[in-house]
Amino acid sequence: MSLPTITPGTSPADVPPGDEATAARYVRQIFARVAPRYDLLNHLLSFQIDRYWRRFTAEKASEALVLPTARALDLCCGTGDLLLALGRVHSGPMFGADFCRPMLVAAAAKLGGHARLIEADALALPVASGSLDLVTIAFGLRNLANYRNGLQEMRRVLRDGGRLAVLEFSQPRGRLLGPMYKLYFRYVLPRLGGAISGAANAYRYLQQSVDKFLSPEELSAAMLAVGFRQVRYWPLTGGIAVLHVATK
Ligand SMILES: C[S@@+](CC[C@H](N)C(=O)[O-])C[C@H]1O[C@@H](n2cnc3c(N)ncnc32)[C@H](O)[C@@H]1O
Repeated sequence: MSLPTITPGTSPADVPPGDEATAARYVRQIFARVAPRYDLLNHLLSFQIDRYWRRFTAEKASEALVLPTARALDLCCGTGDLLLALGRVHSGPMFGADFCRPMLVAAAAKLGGHARLIEADALALPVASGSLDLVTIAFGLRNLANYRNGLQEMRRVLRDGGRLAVLEFSQPRGRLLGPMYKLYFRYVLPRLGGAISGAANAYRYLQQSVDKFLSPEELSAAMLAVGFRQVRYWPLTGGIAVLHVATK
């Protein structure tokens, strides 16, 4: 099966289409700028619902963590909130990877040795093939310069039977919630986020990247296309976020 015709990866407005190296640099700089206020803004702008989304993700992902020795990697781990949630369901080896050092510095302060952190690009992981039981990625896939290559890399590092859990924003489709959310996301969030973080372009990018991201059906098709099976997904909070879980 081939990928449907969709954006191949994140395409920030200021970056020439198809220039993956510049897109990745742009994304890294954006997150470096917002890192000091990232947690505050995340919880504030989502009315704390993001905590519930990560808990739900950790619960579903725990199906892959039955053995205490199971190895989990959280990609695009940012300041480590999903690692914290995973730590509540698993006491075995856990790793976090991100390519933005200021986000990892914030994660290290919060996690205190709870997980091993790696500064790495999700598209080229310094991780042996077939070595992990679980890969998670929360609000990260949307930012990759190439979705297909990212999913392929996630599949490479998983063992056969291992699980991938992708938590990502989506567009709620409800008659009332859909238009209300669009207004909030397009007009309120970029202004509020920009004002509090001092990085207006970061919150414009957030809004545009969600607008351009794959629908849940397209993401399921993309996962199947790179060889995952048993793809399931759960729309959360009326479809504002969606959790996909797939098996290698
Ligand atoms: C929106 S934040 C999500 C952080 C965290 N997972 C959470 O749930 O809050 C996206 C993170 O993805 C990281 N990121 C984006 N592209 C990446 C890549 N190619 N490789 C590694 N990290 C990446 C950014 O540096 C940033 O920390």
